[in-house]
Amino acid sequence: DIPIIINACKNNNLDEKFEDTIISNVQIEGPLLKGEFEDGEVIKKVIGRQSEDLLSDIEKANLRGRGGAGFPTSLKWKLAYKQEKTPKYVVCNADEGEPGTFKDRYILHKHCNKVIEGMTIASYIIKASKGFIYLRGEYFYLKEIIEKILKNRKKAGLLGKDILGVDGFDFEIEIRMGAGAYICGEETALIESLEGMRGEPRNRPPYPVDTGFYDKPTIVNNVETFLDINLIFKNGVEFFKTYGTSKSTGTKFFSISGDCQAEGIYELPFGITIEKLIEKVGAENIKAVQIGGAAGRCVKAGDFKNRIAFEAVPTGGSIILFNEDRDMLEVAQNFMDFFVDESCGQCTPCREGNRKLSNGLKLLKEGRCPITYLEELMDLAETIKISSKCGLGQSSPNAFISIIENFKDEILGRLPRGGSDE
Ligand code: NAI
Ligand code: SF4
Repeated sequence: DIPIIINACKNNNLDEKFEDTIISNVQIEGPLLKGEFEDGEVIKKVIGRQSEDLLSDIEKANLRGRGGAGFPTSLKWKLAYKQEKTPKYVVCNADEGEPGTFKDRYILHKHCNKVIEGMTIASYIIKASKGFIYLRGEYFYLKEIIEKILKNRKKAGLLGKDILGVDGFDFEIEIRMGAGAYICGEETALIESLEGMRGEPRNRPPYPVDTGFYDKPTIVNNVETFLDINLIFKNGVEFFKTYGTSKSTGTKFFSISGDCQAEGIYELPFGITIEKLIEKVGAENIKAVQIGGAAGRCVKAGDFKNRIAFEAVPTGGSIILFNEDRDMLEVAQNFMDFFVDESCGQCTPCREGNRKLSNGLKLLKEGRCPITYLEELMDLAETIKISSKCGLGQSSPNAFISIIENFKDEILGRLPRGGSDE
């Protein structure tokens, strides 16, 4: 049990600098972050080792992508390493846009050197010479901080040509700013944006590991994944595996917000129950927890014994708590309106379907949605999931479906008695 409040912040106001939002700066960092860190120390540890050997360590650590999908990092990097096409690219996805997610903002602010070190290790393993940090447009204030770190690392021989004197170990990192589009957090839309195009998802396969930035092998990983790479090689595979479950090893950064005393950023072990997490943040009378942001599922009180892990209830880190005073239809409406705004519009199920679901919720709230139409909307929601081109459309109906299924009492009371004009 290693519950650690890292920073409790009063809100996630993007206009304020992160420090200004902090109300209780507990700074008891989690076990993996504890201890001194000297820039370059982990790179020094991996230099001289073979890529296969390093990949085998990542596989043994069972590191899974921290953006939300949980794809095995060793497999992704192995596929990129084996590619013969060059140059290869390492992309840090810092376009954190999931509603309720603000952990990468913290990590980049406080542990940027470790993230960059993780990216540099990735470049060493897959033999990439160029990296990008794709930074969320609203995190503009972080750009200057990261640029300074990049400059210092270059001066120290930790970036640039022949890193730490190793012949041919060349790696440069450039920051690219997003411009406020949620869809650019989807890896292929992000790559399109990097190429100067409109941020629209590509068909997958081919995956970026073989056909990424300018069709070259590219690994795109979340900020926290690169941090974990650094921590695995610093502290060792076994130490990393001390935490979490066998299928979801390590700890996880959570952004916790909503109806609780201490919203903020927490590092907690994978496998923690929802119940325990609620207790940690001092929340009471919670009837619903949205896990995984707008794209996630809304869990009801009866299911709070479930564990948060890739094999149970998965998340990229966003946890939003709702107490008994909340109207769950309003919650669903809020999420659906978000997707109507953020859909790139490329494919019909997502573009039109999400609008239908959002309109359906309005009818429900007005007491004008008959049960038969609600059933049609539930079918439509499933259709959107299976027929949309990218993760946005494939997950956008999750909140709608789970709220209708889990909060039937609230929904049934809103159905019209008799006919409806729909
Ligand atoms: P995915 O499961 O399709 O892919 C995950 C990663 O594995 C990608 O990098 C993909 O390229 C790679 N991959 C998957 N299959 C592969 C294969 N056969 N060969 C090579 N590489 C392969 O998930 P996706 O659509 O990339 O991401 C969806 C996730 O993103 C969701 O879990 C969602 O929760 C999360 N998300 C996170 C946000 C945030 O702000 N952190 C925002 C929105 C969504
Ligand atoms: Fe665009 Fe939605 Fe289709 Fe994704 S699913 S490509 S966001 S329209």
